[in-house]
Amino acid sequence: MTPHVIEPDPQAGAAVKAADRAHVFHSWSAQGLIDPLAVAGAEGSYFWDYDGNRYLDFTSGLVYTNIGYQHPKVVAAIQEQAGKLTTFAPAFAIDVRSEAARLIAERTPGDLDKIFFTNGGAEAVENAVRMARLHTGRTKVLSAYRSYHGATSTAINLTGDPRRWASDNGSAGVVRFWAPFLYRSPFYATTEAEESARALQHLEDTIAFEGPATIAAIILETVPGTAGIMTPPPGYLAGVREICDRYGIVFVLDEVMAGFGRTGKWFAAEHFDVVPDLMTFAKGVNSGYVPLGGVAINAEIAATFDKRPYPGGLTYSGHPLACAAAVATIQVMEDEKVVENAAHIGETVLGPGLRELAERHPSVGEVRGMGVFWALDLVKNRETREPLVPYNAAGEANAPMAAFGAAAKKNGLWPFVNMNRTHAVPACNVSEAEAKEGLAALDAALTVADEHTA
Ligand SMILES: Cc1ncc(COP(=O)(O)O)c(C=O)c1O
Repeated sequence: MTPHVIEPDPQAGAAVKAADRAHVFHSWSAQGLIDPLAVAGAEGSYFWDYDGNRYLDFTSGLVYTNIGYQHPKVVAAIQEQAGKLTTFAPAFAIDVRSEAARLIAERTPGDLDKIFFTNGGAEAVENAVRMARLHTGRTKVLSAYRSYHGATSTAINLTGDPRRWASDNGSAGVVRFWAPFLYRSPFYATTEAEESARALQHLEDTIAFEGPATIAAIILETVPGTAGIMTPPPGYLAGVREICDRYGIVFVLDEVMAGFGRTGKWFAAEHFDVVPDLMTFAKGVNSGYVPLGGVAINAEIAATFDKRPYPGGLTYSGHPLACAAAVATIQVMEDEKVVENAAHIGETVLGPGLRELAERHPSVGEVRGMGVFWALDLVKNRETREPLVPYNAAGEANAPMAAFGAAAKKNGLWPFVNMNRTHAVPACNVSEAEAKEGLAALDAALTVADEHTA
């Protein structure tokens, strides 16, 4: 894409920043300790500030702009829908809502053919859990450590990382277990096969001691995202599917981040040949141009609510602007072979390129991922695998990762940084040249991380 001509306007940037600092209360932050960048614009894989600095976005926002920023066809579809019917209540049948549901249902695996629309991922998770509880008449939900499912009440309690702690009331009906992650194996496994078998045994044991008849659902991210992009070993998800079937437990796959092309397939579940009972989605469904999420529901659970009302709803469920954006996004993804591009970039540029960086940089402990969904696990020492910064480090203890992030930005790359990891998660339609540009900037930033190895 031709780079946008940037007209620096520091004064305008200062005004945006001042109003932000005075009135915007930011998520996940100590308000007095943050310094948000004032962004002037974005296009494709890039965004820019008011001082004339342009960044290659290796975060896709919060891993959601799967077709990049300002795709002209999706922008036009939103404008057209705004002129036609900007909004309409959820109880009515509306053309773009029906069409978005049809296009999504056609792409979700198996018989996940009914779509309940929400405004984002957390609400999708809330409603999936509600459906599972009503369908089974059971309460407990099992979720994995090293996971993220959203910031609303149930979703944050399902989340298996420190973001949950402040909201964990210990009474959400959630039981957590360890999912497989060979590089930092909770099971002392040394092979993928061992890790898979032991993780399944651990899940079986957890269920047996919790009481199978008390468990409504097991929820897993197909490929955990912010928690570290840990691709599950062969056989694991199929094993979970079998366990769920044996105990009448609803299997929920959370594809809010992994879905809509990110792994090089429409949905990550396709890599593992599994079909869940419920699947949550958001983000890539319309690249976040207008907030949208949802739950794809299988025939059996949908039938539970054929004669009995589903006790849940949202004013903006299936909002026409969001649905028009989804219809256009899916069309663009088909026409421009965006999912195929994600697979191709992963196989030919990012995968080999990141592995090559790992060979030269002692701070890279492991490279893992697929498509445009990659993590570099940064370490102090490759032998011991000690993370570059301690778990959940802040302030001075996090200085090595902060230095890495600053170096990436200095080299024109906006990096995704979480604990001791950086994730390479550009848009699914990133070009080869852009992906290579990102690798070069990461190369420079890793030199800074290397200084903290021992
Ligand atoms: C796997 C997963 N589930 C749920 C969510 C929550 O989505 P939202 O922020 O749209 O509520 C996220 C957000 O990052 C996610 O990655």
